[in-house]
Amino acid sequence: MASGGGQQGPVLAALGAEVTIFDNSENQLNQDRKLSNEFNLNIKTIQGDMKDLGVFSDESFDLVFNPCSVVFAENLKPIWQECFRVLKPNGILMTGLINPVTFQLAQDEQTFKLVYTQPYSDLHSLPKEKLDELIKNQEALEFGHSLTDQIGGQLSAGFVITNFYEDYWGDQQLIDKYLPSFIASRGVKS
Ligand SMILES: C[S@@+](CC[C@H](N)C(=O)[O-])C[C@H]1O[C@@H](n2cnc3c(N)ncnc32)[C@H](O)[C@@H]1O
Repeated sequence: MASGGGQQGPVLAALGAEVTIFDNSENQLNQDRKLSNEFNLNIKTIQGDMKDLGVFSDESFDLVFNPCSVVFAENLKPIWQECFRVLKPNGILMTGLINPVTFQLAQDEQTFKLVYTQPYSDLHSLPKEKLDELIKNQEALEFGHSLTDQIGGQLSAGFVITNFYEDYWGDQQLIDKYLPSFIASRGVKS
């Protein structure tokens, strides 16, 4: 889910999975189509918004793999509920999340300042002129969700979290010196 771009889908398909890539970007889906054709992977692609997985029947997947993309959704509740619905019993949701603290910070050369309140939202946290610029440039808006919405939301939808780890940019960013920016969780529909 929201995993276009030719990264996760082709790897899973090469390992033998029957893969459907669902993403709202035609460009991202084209990357999966290109690799699927090149390596004869038979990946199915569907364009749509992650908040509505209505094109899929109940209990139709063994695994939903969601890379760090719920940052582009304003409301997480329908997303976790939809993931739960489309998974078979004992199905797995692997998701990448963003540490909400990273959205509270503004970087100034080699230092950080606490600037934004939680939850962060491009829509409500940015000055109007910055938001207008993002919209004018057709950039995807970002939402820095609380841990309650990211982890508690999965639990409320019915998932049991069976694994969890934090991760870094890989020394590419100053923030790596201070804290891990990413979280991965594995939830089971039990
Ligand atoms: C950071 S990329 C992650 C996927 C990519 N395979 C990767 O590993 O980098 C975020 C993906 O979410 C998709 N996306 C953003 N908003 C979405 C939405 N509302 N519904 C579905 N997909 C969305 C983007 O098109 C993009 O492919």
